[in-house]
Amino acid sequence: MSIKAVIFDLDGVIVTTDDCHYRAWKAMADDEGIYFDRKINDRLRGVSRMASLDIVLERAEREYSNEEKTALAKKKNDIYVSLIQQLTEADILSGVMENLDALKQGGIKIAIGSSSKNTPIILERIGLSTYFDAVSDGNNITKSKPDPEVFVKAADMLGIPYGECMIVEDADAGIEAGRAAGMTTLAVGNACGADYHSPSLAELSLLDLLCDIR
Ligand code: BG6
Ligand code: MG
Repeated sequence: MSIKAVIFDLDGVIVTTDDCHYRAWKAMADDEGIYFDRKINDRLRGVSRMASLDIVLERAEREYSNEEKTALAKKKNDIYVSLIQQLTEADILSGVMENLDALKQGGIKIAIGSSSKNTPIILERIGLSTYFDAVSDGNNITKSKPDPEVFVKAADMLGIPYGECMIVEDADAGIEAGRAAGMTTLAVGNACGADYHSPSLAELSLLDLLCDIR
């Protein structure tokens, strides 16, 4: 098999937290009287908190100072953190555990590559804190997706060459990051530009796909 590791995005690939991000941004935007909908939210997938805020503020009717932006990002994150306290194993997306278990049994390394600084809390809430061979997240990177840094660091932690890694993503920015790292890319959901695509991980055996790629 030419692929030796699979690096998974977290929000919207492993767990339903993409909806919590939407609800938190929507609450913050509504409070500010700023228009926000799910189409705009799709542009925030994979993008860091502050870069996401800049996209939300494109619809604002006034300029915000840096201090105000810091306060708004904190407000969104406080709402988000309160939402993710409710997460349980039941919020792991369909097909995820079956695929992760099969990859492990097939001798494939698995890692997380997420832009989120809340990754440790989420993994703890869904019972997967010690499950992955490596976790690279918003706490150990300086540049968010579409920069490849988060995936490159995950591959380095695993000790696997970038060309032998596949990334799994629900975000255009994440697919771009994987391609920039020289990795094979699999999109789940609506992300564009990937080598492979599946509506979700429930419709796919990743291990079979890796065997087919060779
Ligand atoms: C990504 C999400 O995983 O993490 C983005 O897709 C989010 O929507 C980004 O903005 C940063 O997350 P956090 O939890 O650090 O604000
Ligand atoms: Mg995502």
